[in-house]
Amino acid sequence: MKNITILAVDDIEANLISLEYLIEEYMNDVNLLLAPSGEEALKLTYTKDIDIIILDIQMPGMDGFETAKYLKSSPKTKDIPIIFLTAAFKEEEFQQKGFEVGAIDYLTKPIENRQFINKLNLYIQVIIKTKELQSLNDNLSQSLEQEILLKEKIQEQQLELVEQSKISALGEMIGNIAHQWRQPLSVISTCASGLRLNLELGLDNKEVVSSSLARIVDTTSELSSTIESFRNFTFQDKLSEFNLSAIINKTIENEKYILDENNIKMIIELDDEINLNNLPNSLIQALQNIIKNSKEALNKIDSERFIFINTYVQDNEVYIQIKDNAGGIEEEHLSKIYEPYFTTKHQSNGIGLGLNITYKLICDSMRGKIKTQLFSRTLSNQRSVCP
Ligand SMILES: Nc1ncnc2c1ncn2[C@@H]1O[C@H](COP(=O)(O)OP(=O)(O)OP(=O)(O)O)[C@@H](O)[C@H]1O
Ligand SMILES: [Mg+2]
Repeated sequence: MKNITILAVDDIEANLISLEYLIEEYMNDVNLLLAPSGEEALKLTYTKDIDIIILDIQMPGMDGFETAKYLKSSPKTKDIPIIFLTAAFKEEEFQQKGFEVGAIDYLTKPIENRQFINKLNLYIQVIIKTKELQSLNDNLSQSLEQEILLKEKIQEQQLELVEQSKISALGEMIGNIAHQWRQPLSVISTCASGLRLNLELGLDNKEVVSSSLARIVDTTSELSSTIESFRNFTFQDKLSEFNLSAIINKTIENEKYILDENNIKMIIELDDEINLNNLPNSLIQALQNIIKNSKEALNKIDSERFIFINTYVQDNEVYIQIKDNAGGIEEEHLSKIYEPYFTTKHQSNGIGLGLNITYKLICDSMRGKIKTQLFSRTLSNQRSVCP
């Protein structure tokens, strides 16, 4: 396929033949179309893609100027460069008019071969460069568009995943609340049923009524304190002084139901003297994520299940060590576990955000460090946090 298509228009056949000869002789990769009149030229422009037109001015019927006007009025042909050809004695008269109707150049007949070929080559180079630029531009805007679309899609998916993890955290919290409410609710229900029975039987035992009501009031405040404790650690976090052991115990208390249900024993050894000025709720959330991972890993083993937590101070730094006996993290995964969306779990069980969020909470928000290391063959997963 030839790169450039030239349309030569002249009513004198001999002129067309000499143009054909010149172009074939001196130019490569050029496809030449010939038209004996303005009308024929216009017909050709409807069906072919033409890059440049060499147009004779003096032709019977539609002359060069008229043909050029038609070409300039159609969207398909208006940008095709036109070079006018005319007899030398008419040059002055036609030049101005030629440029007015949109010619890019003007050549006189008889054609001077070298000059004609040089000019044509020059225009062809410009056309080729313009085409290259155009296609580069098209590709660029296409890939830019694709990149923007891709970025938008990734952002959308990330938001979706974050939403999913929020919903699953919320679901877990509701599960914990429901569990913790079960007992107090049954106390309230028993007291209320007793009171109704008393009333139905017409018994007037004020002591029983009063103690039942007191129990209901106490238990109700227990219910609201459960809600309060969950609300606090889930939605609020500000720099404050706290006792590390109290926060760890609170986290374990909140997880107690899940841990019991999975037969996991917590072995804790805490230095109760450690007080920190940091973000307590971020720490709870980080601990929760680590414990959740241990729980999920421990679910795969049949032997006794343990999570060990101990705290100590060394060289003025506070350490929290968390280990489990589930077998540890595969060595090949160690470098990736803090990356977002890295998970070895089935899609329905994990999205790989837990440790990424934990890392951000500990390292970015709390300005601490987090480390994962192989501990021993049985207790292989150890993390040290020094907030
Ligand atoms: N205690 C652990 N024992 C064994 N492997 C672990 C443990 N903790 C983390 N991992 C490994 O690290 C990976 C990343 O953990 P991360 O908490 O970031 O994601 P996840 O638990 O897979 O999913 P998500 O936390 O979003 O539910 C896990 O898929 C698992 O392979
Ligand atoms: Mg996890």
